[in-house]
Amino acid sequence: MAQYKEIKPEELSGNPFRLIGKDWMLVTAKKDNTINTMTASWGGMGVMWNKNVAVTVLRPQRYTKEFIDTSKRFSLSFYDDSYRKDMTYVGRVSGREEPGKITKTSFTPAEIDGVPYFEEANMVLICKKLYVQEMNPEGFMEDCKELDVQNYPNKDYHFMYVAEIEKILIKEA
Ligand SMILES: Cc1cc2nc3c(=O)[nH]c(=O)nc-3n(C[C@H](O)[C@H](O)[C@H](O)COP(=O)(O)O)c2cc1C
Repeated sequence: MAQYKEIKPEELSGNPFRLIGKDWMLVTAKKDNTINTMTASWGGMGVMWNKNVAVTVLRPQRYTKEFIDTSKRFSLSFYDDSYRKDMTYVGRVSGREEPGKITKTSFTPAEIDGVPYFEEANMVLICKKLYVQEMNPEGFMEDCKELDVQNYPNKDYHFMYVAEIEKILIKEA
């Protein structure tokens, strides 16, 4: 089993714009005794209510959302480039239609404090949900309404989850 060491958020050396936006992350949660995961490239890391938080946005049709909604905690995990193909796969195929989707990848499920992630991760964030809110068209500024038109032709507005980053685990060499 892979070994991880815990670091403080202030010690994080990765750039969140690259980590999330360019390299992507997996959002993983457990429901009953099964896990589901999906790729995400939108979101953020920062500070809210004096807590270190990660922000993740999920469209309502994501099967992973059902898992997040029934769990107190979930993980965000990060991988090197050799897992790009697997990340693309779990970002294209839904666990609702393909229940064995994780087994079609090289990801090995593991758990930390009952929170699922994959052993291939080079960094794992254990996140505790604090706040969830559905985005809505009224929230866009008058001169930004095209963002609504471009991103939500099906009116499937993201649910924004703000979660406390309880642990940051970095894989030991
Ligand atoms: C690079 C990439 C980034 C994605 N980012 C997000 C995201 O931030 N939020 C979201 O809801 N879906 C995002 N998706 C889509 C989901 O990963 C995809 O719909 C996935 O199949 C959902 O799986 P599920 O239904 O098993 O949860 C992304 C997909 C890819 C390939």
